[in-house]
Amino acid sequence: MEPISLEGKVALVTGGAGGIGRGIAESFAELGARVLVADSNPEAVSRSNDEARGQGLSIDAVECDVRDTSAVRALIQRVETKERRLDILVNNVGHTLRLFKPLEEMTDENIDDLFSVLLRHVMICSREAIPLMKRSGEGGSIISISSIEGYRGLPNIVPYAAFKLAIEGFTKSLALELGPHGIRVNAIAPETTESESIRPSRWVKPENQERIPYWIPMGRFGRPSDTAGCAVFLASALSEWVSGTVIHCDGGSLAAAGWYRMADNRWTNTPIIEGSGL
Ligand SMILES: NC(=O)c1ccc[n+]([C@@H]2O[C@H](COP(=O)([O-])OP(=O)(O)OC[C@H]3O[C@@H](n4cnc5c(N)ncnc54)[C@H](O)[C@@H]3O)[C@@H](O)[C@H]2O)c1
Repeated sequence: MEPISLEGKVALVTGGAGGIGRGIAESFAELGARVLVADSNPEAVSRSNDEARGQGLSIDAVECDVRDTSAVRALIQRVETKERRLDILVNNVGHTLRLFKPLEEMTDENIDDLFSVLLRHVMICSREAIPLMKRSGEGGSIISISSIEGYRGLPNIVPYAAFKLAIEGFTKSLALELGPHGIRVNAIAPETTESESIRPSRWVKPENQERIPYWIPMGRFGRPSDTAGCAVFLASALSEWVSGTVIHCDGGSLAAAGWYRMADNRWTNTPIIEGSGL
């Protein structure tokens, strides 16, 4: 088997100046890709460019809000002018906007805002990138970052789970359209992962930290490098016959689906711990 390489490939990662997106951008660049990052946070953009220079990685971050169609058009134009091609698109932007409340309290504006930051840009960025990917002439890979929350019930922010699950529908349908052009379309659904906005290492109180190994079958929360590993697989020739699917990057938590490991290594699905486990 050939060693994994993204040499000669050009990748665009949205929201790649921090968190999971940053992990993906770094992994791609370490494997030889030239990476462009589109991020709406100017400080994060400037920090990302400083870090990339320090690391000697080809990651060029630019300020762009992917909810703005004209900004996305200008971004793709920039990729074409600078690189003349695009092989990999990662639709990574996504956020809860901290809109945690029951559906009956969600305003129209709340639902529209979540739609914009979770799903709309996935379609807009892909739509704008596809012609350049086709012109590049070597197929390509579109990867969208969903969430494991789309695959289980998520109370108090219903639209987040709904729009994340919708990424699977988008992925399957677009995979059919683009298959004949050699462009693969897939998604990754991570479980809770340490990032800029998600901080389980700070949120779980010190006295509860010892419970973490029992909470998720693989014994820890996610790291950006976990999702990045899946993204490398989906971006590279390793997955050249994989399209229209979603990788659950979740440490086994979806499989657990309500089962928890106890301190004595037995498993329980009830709140009665003593004597109830398997
Ligand atoms: N971290 C988790 O636990 C987790 C779990 C499952 C899924 N996800 C998904 O993974 C993706 C990345 O999550 P994260 O936790 O790394 O996010 P993050 O908030 O830590 O980082 C996101 C980056 O996107 C940028 N960004 C935000 N809105 C933008 C916009 N409109 N245009 C351009 N850039 C924008 C931010 O500036 C930031 O640099 C999201 O789609 C999220 O829903 C995260």
